[in-house]
Amino acid sequence: MRGRFIAIEGLDGSGGTTQIALLAEALRQPGAPGGPWTVHTTAEPSTGPIGRMIREALGGRLDLGDGVLPYLFAADRQDHLEREVEPALAAGHAVLTDRYYASSLAYQSLAAPLGFVAGLNARFRAPDLTVFLDLPVEACVERILKRGAPRDRFETEGTLREISAAYGAALALLADRGDRIAHVDASGTPAQVHARVMEQVAACLS
Ligand code: TYD
Repeated sequence: MRGRFIAIEGLDGSGGTTQIALLAEALRQPGAPGGPWTVHTTAEPSTGPIGRMIREALGGRLDLGDGVLPYLFAADRQDHLEREVEPALAAGHAVLTDRYYASSLAYQSLAAPLGFVAGLNARFRAPDLTVFLDLPVEACVERILKRGAPRDRFETEGTLREISAAYGAALALLADRGDRIAHVDASGTPAQVHARVMEQVAACLS
């Protein structure tokens, strides 16, 4: 049995965490496309040692410059794949990750050239599908403010605008390279967005 690897991407506030939960629930149902699936949900930065270090750095509790982050994210990705993703795929599970290498290409290309970040990530397994949750920056900011949680270094409107443009370049590069990428309109209710996500995922899984 072949596992499937799906990455959810988008700006902070675009709804990735909510959509992963809804997708996981849907894929566990008997009528799920190609399923029912045993679903493994995960996220990057991972819960491993390097992922923890990254979260400390993003929260400002650890003094690490932007130049260090591309290496840390790549190291965390290798660890995440070895420790969590590859074993679950080998067991035939559907692995859903909240962010993967497209996030590095988008976010880290603010401080380093895109080609350099893409090079650091070139050897990692491509997802079977990357779902990009497409939401205007203003709507992301509104959702981030409503959430009320402390913001990390990327969650200001100006930075989100830059990241939005960087995502465009990053996803174009990955699509050119042969990655399967679905752009999904992330406006509306969680259920409306979920229906759009399911349409794309069904095409990939069945
Ligand atoms: P995330 O877990 O989505 O944020 P939250 O704190 O809301 O749960 O991701 C944390 C931040 O890490 C997010 O702003 C995006 C950033 N990030 C990168 O810069 N590069 C990467 O490769 C990844 C995976 C995340």
